Amino acid sequence: MTQKILLTESEFNSDLLNIIDSKSLEEIRIKYFSKKGKISQLFDEFRSLSADEKKLSGKRLNELKSFVQSKLDELKNSFPGSEIKDEKFFDLSLPGREKIIGSKHILIQTLDEIKLIFKGLGFSIHEGPELESDYNNFEALNFPPDHPARDMQDTFFVNKNFLLRTHTSPVQIRLMKAQQPPVRAIMPGKVYRNEAVSAKSYCLFHQVEGLYVDTDVTFAELKGTLIAFARQFFGKDVRYRFRPSFFPFTEPSAEVDIWWQPKDKPGRWLEILGCGMVDPNVLDNVGVDSEKYVGYAFGMGVERIALLKYKIGDIRVFFDNDKRFLTQF
Ligand code: DAH
Repeated sequence: MTQKILLTESEFNSDLLNIIDSKSLEEIRIKYFSKKGKISQLFDEFRSLSADEKKLSGKRLNELKSFVQSKLDELKNSFPGSEIKDEKFFDLSLPGREKIIGSKHILIQTLDEIKLIFKGLGFSIHEGPELESDYNNFEALNFPPDHPARDMQDTFFVNKNFLLRTHTSPVQIRLMKAQQPPVRAIMPGKVYRNEAVSAKSYCLFHQVEGLYVDTDVTFAELKGTLIAFARQFFGKDVRYRFRPSFFPFTEPSAEVDIWWQPKDKPGRWLEILGCGMVDPNVLDNVGVDSEKYVGYAFGMGVERIALLKYKIGDIRVFFDNDKRFLTQF
């Protein structure tokens, strides 16, 4: 009898290793404690022993029973499901769990705000693909073949003819090909550049392109529109300046800077957009009569203006998905 008890104990010890969930726990419990289970059988045998033999093995048998029982009880608490049967795990006095509801990313909020302002100024909204042809991204926009922006370093080429668009300007081309003037639209979207990631630049960012083509569009109107935008977006007292610049697809061209004033550092101008009068070559490329029509265009960096408005020092935080940042907006 004593030997059987020892054998059962060692068998149980190896069975213990196979208990991985509440189902296997129940199987082992049945194996030892059901009517025909190992321990029940040992007790049956024990009953037919002589008084002397009972003295010898009685204590051991009881020890085995309580050892197996306590191990199984211990495990019972470590599996969910088995807990549910145990009433002490329901604490009705605990407060409920609050559901965490997500919110719009700050860049999407910024984009929404930009769209709303330009809608109010009479612009419609169009989108184009992020995978773009070299033709639409560069050639139709009057980039000479040896222009530095075509360099592999700036552009993620997919193959010789296709790339991840480096700006939203190719949507101008798509739009003008699809629709004769008058055209007045903004074109928001993601753009990609093969640049080293730093506090100031990221390989992915957002732009909003703007285009207005009609028979009598002027540079003064372009300025008026962009100033109206800056005042609505940043507030009436925003400090801005227009600076002459160059883009292959506009002539003349300019850039707009906004004054950036950190609390305890000297302020400086930060560029937020490029703009200009659509180059006649571009109109010709898309089949719009450049003798009859004129247009203006602009392209702004969404991250830049969000950084300015919300006083954020590092562009990378937009893409980190760190809840401590995201929940502030
Ligand atoms: N596409 C230019 C860039 O990514 C920005 C830009 C400049 C867009 C002038 C325009 C424009 O439409 O007229 O740097």
